[in-house]
Amino acid sequence: MTHRITLIPGDGIGPEVSEATRTVIAAAGVSVDWDIQTAGLEVARTEGEPLPARVLESIRANRCALKGPCGTPIGGGFRSVNVTLRQSLDLYANVRPIKSLPQVESRFDVDIVIVRENTEGLYAGLELMIMQGVAQSIKLTTERSSRRIAEFAFRYAESHGRPRVTFVHKANIMKISDGLALDATRKVAPLHPTIELREMIVDAAAMVMVRDPNSLGVLVTENLYGDILSDLGAGLVGGLGFVPGANIGDDAAVFEAVHGTAPDIAGKGLANPTALIQSAVMMLHHLGETAAANAIHKAILRQYEERKVVTGDIGGKAGTSEFTAEMCRLVREIRETAG
Ligand code: NAI
Repeated sequence: MTHRITLIPGDGIGPEVSEATRTVIAAAGVSVDWDIQTAGLEVARTEGEPLPARVLESIRANRCALKGPCGTPIGGGFRSVNVTLRQSLDLYANVRPIKSLPQVESRFDVDIVIVRENTEGLYAGLELMIMQGVAQSIKLTTERSSRRIAEFAFRYAESHGRPRVTFVHKANIMKISDGLALDATRKVAPLHPTIELREMIVDAAAMVMVRDPNSLGVLVTENLYGDILSDLGAGLVGGLGFVPGANIGDDAAVFEAVHGTAPDIAGKGLANPTALIQSAVMMLHHLGETAAANAIHKAILRQYEERKVVTGDIGGKAGTSEFTAEMCRLVREIRETAG
């Protein structure tokens, strides 16, 4: 079967890591008809907006996309492509597995999953200048979204054999908004009696993530806490170059690396494509291509265990193309052994 998938190469190192990922997917024997849709800073210059309607239409039609990083201006300028994508397509669950790779700097053998609510909170874009010198940002929290993300986290825990969900909040201070989300989560928990619900205040959760991360299991939280804790998690397992991400809704899913466009190394052939390849593994599972997903996953583990061909961000000498060629070789070898 051929899958039709939207590919957004993105800005900076995006096209380099996207190309590497496509090559590895092909080596795993998955047939894909890539619907390539540009978006980001460069597109804003040429088409007047960073996320033209054609990109959303393509994802709606294909229901699945792989996305490289897109640049966003800080302060003024246009709205983040990522935030707009998530909200326009109602991709309400951001899933980031945080798992150590062999031989990559990590204090523990970390294995947790962060599920972040993707559409509300302070990212709802409800900001205003009340008067000169006084700005306000509204933290939007609805019962519907709070229940929906809690449901997602519990179902994820059930289907992935994880016994605990930790709900992270700050309801001691934001009693109404975080309080509503906490109540909604408490109502969902009894519907999933095999999964334990643990509640934790966000500052305590940050400390536990550093000292005893695996006790958290599946961590579920609102948008901003999830954004910050996800990067903390990436830091635990070697940095942003390693962590995959998925944005999942009822009608579409967008898989992306969590790192940015890395302007300092863009175009130099130095980027580490691991994060986007790991996101592709999640995507292949989502598409039911389990054998290919497992082959790529094993190849990633083997490449890091051997540590012969790794990129400069973790002290190696390989460029993106050497890294990719080695991964394709390992994927083919693993497939031949399995077949
Ligand atoms: P960044 O993640 O682009 O770079 C931070 C540091 O990590 C840099 O030194 C970079 O060289 C390194 N790095 C990142 N990914 C790497 C990789 N795959 N291989 C090797 N080294 C890697 O973060 P920064 O500089 O804060 O953001 C740059 C731009 O990216 C901004 O415009 C920002 O808005 C955008 N961005 C986009 C994201 C997305 O589309 N998902 C996520 C985060 C940032």
